[in-house]
Amino acid sequence: MKGQKMPELLNAGVVGCGYWGPNLIRNFQAIPDSKVKMVCDFSRERLNYIKENYSEIETTTEFEELLKDSEINAIIIATSVNTHFTLAQKSLMAGKHTFIEKPMASSSEQCMKLIELAEKNNLILMIGHTFVYTSSVRKIKEIIASGEIGDLLYISSRRLNLGLFQKDINVAWDLAPHDISIILYVLDEPPVSVNCFGKAHLTPGIEDVINMTINFSSNKFATINSSWLDPHKVREMKFVGSKKMIVYDDIEPLEKIKIYDKRVEVPPHYDTFAEFQYAYHYGDMYAPYVKQVEPLRVECQHFMDCILNNTKSESSGHDGLQVVQILESSSESLRKNGAKVDIT
Ligand SMILES: NC(=O)c1ccc[n+]([C@@H]2O[C@H](COP(=O)([O-])OP(=O)(O)OC[C@H]3O[C@@H](n4cnc5c(N)ncnc54)[C@H](O)[C@@H]3O)[C@@H](O)[C@H]2O)c1
Repeated sequence: MKGQKMPELLNAGVVGCGYWGPNLIRNFQAIPDSKVKMVCDFSRERLNYIKENYSEIETTTEFEELLKDSEINAIIIATSVNTHFTLAQKSLMAGKHTFIEKPMASSSEQCMKLIELAEKNNLILMIGHTFVYTSSVRKIKEIIASGEIGDLLYISSRRLNLGLFQKDINVAWDLAPHDISIILYVLDEPPVSVNCFGKAHLTPGIEDVINMTINFSSNKFATINSSWLDPHKVREMKFVGSKKMIVYDDIEPLEKIKIYDKRVEVPPHYDTFAEFQYAYHYGDMYAPYVKQVEPLRVECQHFMDCILNNTKSESSGHDGLQVVQILESSSESLRKNGAKVDIT
């Protein structure tokens, strides 16, 4: 109607505006037909920071204020992992579509309860697996699906830096959700078991370096090395195929993906042991053009589209559960000194 302001299609309430929350707020504010109505944090200092940057956003220290506001139709949770379940449960029970930052919750049992609640109330439940929304990861999935690198044999991933140390979760729960969500998105098959070995050098009981192996039924496997105790910042994944190999370096500003025409072949026939030789193939390397767009923008837009069209998210509660199942199994394996733990 002329002169009357149409309501926003997405009217969000955000809880948690520490390090990551402001990035979500910025993106939800920037999307047409979406706005952040209210932000909640325990910290007045963080709320003041939001007020300074967005005078139109209401602030509160009481999460219930977000739930009570009938104009708010979605809650965005960007708090520490141990609070995700309680906040998301309240949000879904209040009839709000719910976005939870990674990892979804502290246990698979909690994840299952949230999935059930969202399905029962016909609400969108989406997890912040940001890397699934990067153009690089989408391009890698496309290249592998095209058959260009042959059969995918294994994936290896390294996410290393000096810090930021967390006090309540180990480095696997902090950093590996990124690698795990990429691996599951690219492979699109369920994991069967996990081995994880690591050490807590600084905070007792909180591992600061881990090496994880995820095994899949197709005989493929993926390794993840996560560390807060490394001199170099590394964000690198390798996808090794029978014909070619992909290197994804997320620190590279432009050429994030490189495809190497390299492989090793076993000669099909040989009569004597002396004739047996591996054939090493060294071909060209190329970096495909990948247009870089802010993945968070794509992710936030996707949440809104899922709400509008009532469609399942590409990082749904089920995807969040699978990541948490792997993390849970990794914690059990750590306690068993790296022994294999089946994912049930
Ligand atoms: N997707 C990504 O790339 C990415 C990157 C960084 C962090 N994260 C995730 O974002 C989440 C938050 O991480 P962070 O680094 O911003 O943490 P943080 O500690 O910097 O911020 C969390 C904020 O939440 C507030 N808070 C905690 N519990 C609350 C409650 N019950 N009610 C109101 N406020 C509460 C705290 O006061 C704090 O300001 C985590 O789940 C983390 O894994 C995701």
